[in-house]
Amino acid sequence: MGFFFLSNTILQIAILAVLITASKSLVHGAETPRLSISTDKEALISFKSGIDPETLGPLLTWDQTLSPCNWTGVLCNDKVGARVVELDLAGLGLKGSISPHIGNLSFLRSLQLQDNQLMGTFPNQLGNLFRLSVLNMSFNSIQGVIPQNISRCTELEILDLEQNAISGRIPEELSYLAKLQVLNLGRNLLFGSIPPSLANLSSLISLNLGTNRLGGMIPGDLSRLQKLKQLDLTINNLTGTVPPSIYNMSSLVELALASNDLWGIIPYNVGDTLPNLLNFNFCFNKFSGTIPGSLHNLTRIQVIRMAHNLLHGTVPPGLGNLPELQMYNIGFNRIVGVGDNGLDFLTSLTNSTRLNFLAVDGNLLEGVIPESIGNLSKVLSKLYMGGNRIHGRIPASIGHLSGLTLLNLSYNSISYDIPQEIGNLEELLSLGLAGNNISGKIPTSLGSLKNLINIDLSGNELEGTIPATFENFERLLSLDLSCNKLNGSIPKEILNLRSLSTHLNLSNNLLTGPLPQEIGTLDSLVAVDLSNNILSETIPDSIGNCKSLEKLLMANNMFTGPIPDTLSELKGLETLDISSNKLSGSIPESLQKLQGLQLLNLSFNDLEGEVPVGGVFANLSGIYLDGNPKLCFMSACEKGRDHRKRLILVCIIVGSIAIIALCSTIGLVFYLRKRKSKVTAPSDSFEIERQHQMGSIGYIPPEYGMGEKPSTAGDVYSYGITLLELFTGKSPTHESFTGDLSLKKWVQTAIATNVDQVSDPGLVRTNSSLSDDVQAITPEAQTDCSIAVLGVGLACTVDSPDGRISMRDALCKLKSIRENLFKTDHARKTNV
Ligand SMILES: *[C@@H]1O[C@H](CO)[C@@H](O)[C@H](O)[C@H]1NC(C)=O
Ligand SMILES: *[C@@H]1O[C@H](CO)[C@@H](O)[C@H](O)[C@H]1NC(C)=O
Ligand SMILES: *[C@@H]1O[C@H](CO)[C@@H](O)[C@H](O)[C@H]1NC(C)=O
Ligand SMILES: *[C@@H]1O[C@H](CO)[C@@H](O)[C@H](O)[C@H]1NC(C)=O
Ligand SMILES: *[C@@H]1O[C@H](CO)[C@@H](O)[C@H](O)[C@H]1NC(C)=O
Ligand SMILES: *[C@@H]1O[C@H](CO)[C@@H](O)[C@H](O)[C@H]1NC(C)=O
Ligand SMILES: *[C@@H]1O[C@H](CO)[C@@H](O)[C@H](O)[C@H]1NC(C)=O
Ligand SMILES: *[C@@H]1O[C@H](CO)[C@@H](O)[C@H](O)[C@H]1NC(C)=O
Ligand SMILES: *[C@@H]1O[C@H](CO)[C@@H](O)[C@H](O)[C@H]1NC(C)=O
Ligand SMILES: *[C@@H]1O[C@H](CO)[C@@H](O)[C@H](O)[C@H]1NC(C)=O
Ligand SMILES: *[C@@H]1O[C@H](CO)[C@@H](O)[C@H](O)[C@H]1NC(C)=O
Ligand SMILES: *[C@@H]1O[C@H](CO)[C@@H](O)[C@H](O)[C@H]1NC(C)=O
Repeated sequence: MGFFFLSNTILQIAILAVLITASKSLVHGAETPRLSISTDKEALISFKSGIDPETLGPLLTWDQTLSPCNWTGVLCNDKVGARVVELDLAGLGLKGSISPHIGNLSFLRSLQLQDNQLMGTFPNQLGNLFRLSVLNMSFNSIQGVIPQNISRCTELEILDLEQNAISGRIPEELSYLAKLQVLNLGRNLLFGSIPPSLANLSSLISLNLGTNRLGGMIPGDLSRLQKLKQLDLTINNLTGTVPPSIYNMSSLVELALASNDLWGIIPYNVGDTLPNLLNFNFCFNKFSGTIPGSLHNLTRIQVIRMAHNLLHGTVPPGLGNLPELQMYNIGFNRIVGVGDNGLDFLTSLTNSTRLNFLAVDGNLLEGVIPESIGNLSKVLSKLYMGGNRIHGRIPASIGHLSGLTLLNLSYNSISYDIPQEIGNLEELLSLGLAGNNISGKIPTSLGSLKNLINIDLSGNELEGTIPATFENFERLLSLDLSCNKLNGSIPKEILNLRSLSTHLNLSNNLLTGPLPQEIGTLDSLVAVDLSNNILSETIPDSIGNCKSLEKLLMANNMFTGPIPDTLSELKGLETLDISSNKLSGSIPESLQKLQGLQLLNLSFNDLEGEVPVGGVFANLSGIYLDGNPKLCFMSACEKGRDHRKRLILVCIIVGSIAIIALCSTIGLVFYLRKRKSKVTAPSDSFEIERQHQMGSIGYIPPEYGMGEKPSTAGDVYSYGITLLELFTGKSPTHESFTGDLSLKKWVQTAIATNVDQVSDPGLVRTNSSLSDDVQAITPEAQTDCSIAVLGVGLACTVDSPDGRISMRDALCKLKSIRENLFKTDHARKTNV
């Protein structure tokens, strides 16, 4: 009873508690919309708590005892109870995510969080900020999709989300933002097509969707955006033709469609229909037709870019009328210019005094560079004219273009000397004259180009010496003088260019003398090519100081002496080609340490001794050692010895019959030999044994030379060579086998025509005065037998390991040859 009473009381208390809680929450619920400066403060504190404490910086001064209106980056209005109206935390290096409580700053008009390292997704609650007119979150790392709720911020005028990691599609709902003037979603990961509903953003002035993954066609509806000045759709995956109505958007100042998959003809009158255009960028598409001449009628235009399309025809007139032009790029099209005057349009550009970028490269322009080129703008910084059909000389007036940082005239048909006035271009960083017909000496004045980073004079007819003044190129990264007729020695001065790091290419010239030991100064250099010169003396040990080398090519010179041991210090070396020199001595063991080596060419030298087998040599596939007759392949020596052990093993496995076959075949050889030469078997077999030291290269299967691991197929090869030797009496290293002719080749060609020539004269006797103790064998039978055995030998020595017969098959064949020899001989004799 007492127990019941007690529990009843508890029940009543519980019900009471529930009621109180419920009424409390009802009251609270009714108060929710009552946001105030204190909820603003809470929201800001919550925002701060989402930021990595290490990056808080100025936010550390946010004193919670003060009103947030006094905090850095926070602005309140004076009226209506002082609420936060602006939050500007741009460029503070803040790291972290954006708190969803930011959606409680209900009076916020401007939110600027650009240039930070904010991550995470876009808080949906931003959609609650219906007074927001500026939202700039550009240059952060925001992920996820654009929340549809953003469409509730109907006061938005600026929405800038450039350079984040925002993905998904562009929400249709953005089109509800009727006051939007700037929509910048560039440099994100947006995909799908461009919603035509964006055309409803009738206030839009700037639309940037560049550098995303947008596909499909450009919606023609966009032409309804009558206030649009900037349309940037570059670097997407847009396809099809540009809707004609786009070319009617007369408000446009910038039209940038570069790097898409767009095609069709650019209307010739585009300059008339887009009269306000200052920036026209159609590069990297598949536009065809001609250069729209009307663009040259836009006297205020600043940028004309159409490079990398399929445009043909000539450069239309009118270029003389563009005083504001800064950039003119029609490179990599099919633009023609005919006759000596094909480049005269360049003269018109002398009126464009602000021109700083001019590219006409990769076209079909003929003609001579006009003397007036020197009257182009003093601020011209980059001049690309490579890959055309320009002939004649480089005018000396080019030396007036004092603003040039890049001059590229490569791959034309330019002749005559390099004008020494090029030395006046002291701002020059890159000079490309490669692939022309330029002759004469390299002017020493080039040494004045102290800022040069790249110089490429390769593939010309330059002669004389490399000017020592090149030592002034203190910032040079790459030097290419290859494929000329330069002579004299390599000036040690140019090897003091410590900055040299990309490549040094002096190959295919007539350079003589030694490689100066100063080469060791170039410790940042990645690639050196000195091939095909007449360089001599020893390779300096200092080469080991070129610690960054990945490619070292010195083939076809006259270098003598040993391969420097110090090469092993070039840890990053991938390619080493010192073939066709006169290098002697042995291959340094230390080269085994070059773990990165992919190609090693030491062929056609005078190297000797054992080829290292360890380290990188063990599984190097690109190794070339031909033409070093004194080289011994140690791995093959060892494997050769192994081979005989294994051969015996194989014999056992294949079976006693095979052993008998082999033994009796070889026995037969000994027998026949002995009978002819009357030499005792022991000394004869000693002789064979001596020749079979396998210390010389003739027994090594070709694939070992290519770095293959020793294999049974390799053993078959060595065995085959042994057979050929036994039955021809000629060692594979016989002096008559030089160059292309090997024992195998010799047998191959002779076997069809004149087997007597290949057969060991000590083996086959034409004179059949057969004697005494053994069964008589006719010469015909001996010849048949020899041919058959040599055939097996050849089958064993096929170059490709896969093409060789197996040891088992070789033994079977030998066995049947042996049986045939006695059987047919017997038959012949009975027939006679
Ligand atoms: C923001 O408002 C929601 C209700 O709309 C409330 O639950 C939340 O606590 C508020 N956040 C802050 C930090 O005041
Ligand atoms: C803002 O800070 C200043 C001092 O830095 C102080 O004088 C002023 O009273 C503060 N205002 C508010 C509203 O807290
Ligand atoms: C976003 O909008 C949807 C409907 O438009 C609404 O259900 C949802 O609550 C909103 N989310 C926020 C966080 O405001
Ligand atoms: C947004 O901020 C970036 C970075 O500071 C600035 O370059 C850009 O002009 C701003 N966007 C707008 C529309 O003002
Ligand atoms: C543009 O807005 C109108 C209403 O203003 C609407 O009827 C139409 O469907 C919208 N167009 C698109 C393409 O969303
Ligand atoms: C571009 O579009 C083509 C088809 O139009 C598609 O095959 C390709 O994957 C797209 N590329 C990217 C990067 O989206
Ligand atoms: C472009 O505008 C002209 C004149 O306003 C008009 O005649 C023509 O039909 C328009 N073309 C397109 C494709 O909108
Ligand atoms: C350039 O403008 C003139 C006069 O305004 C006009 O006669 C000429 O046809 C235009 N040229 C082109 C190529 O549109
Ligand atoms: C440069 O402009 C002047 C005046 O506008 C003009 O007379 C001259 O022909 C132009 N020069 C060239 C090379 O087009
Ligand atoms: C270059 O301009 C100068 C005057 O600035 C003039 O004397 C000279 O004739 C012009 N040269 C060419 C080739 O147009
Ligand atoms: C120079 O032009 C040629 C031909 O267009 C090109 O292959 C080469 O890469 C260019 N060099 C530089 C440094 O721009
Ligand atoms: C190369 O230049 C010389 C003059 O230096 C000229 O005689 C020769 O015809 C030119 N060759 C070619 C193929 O342009």
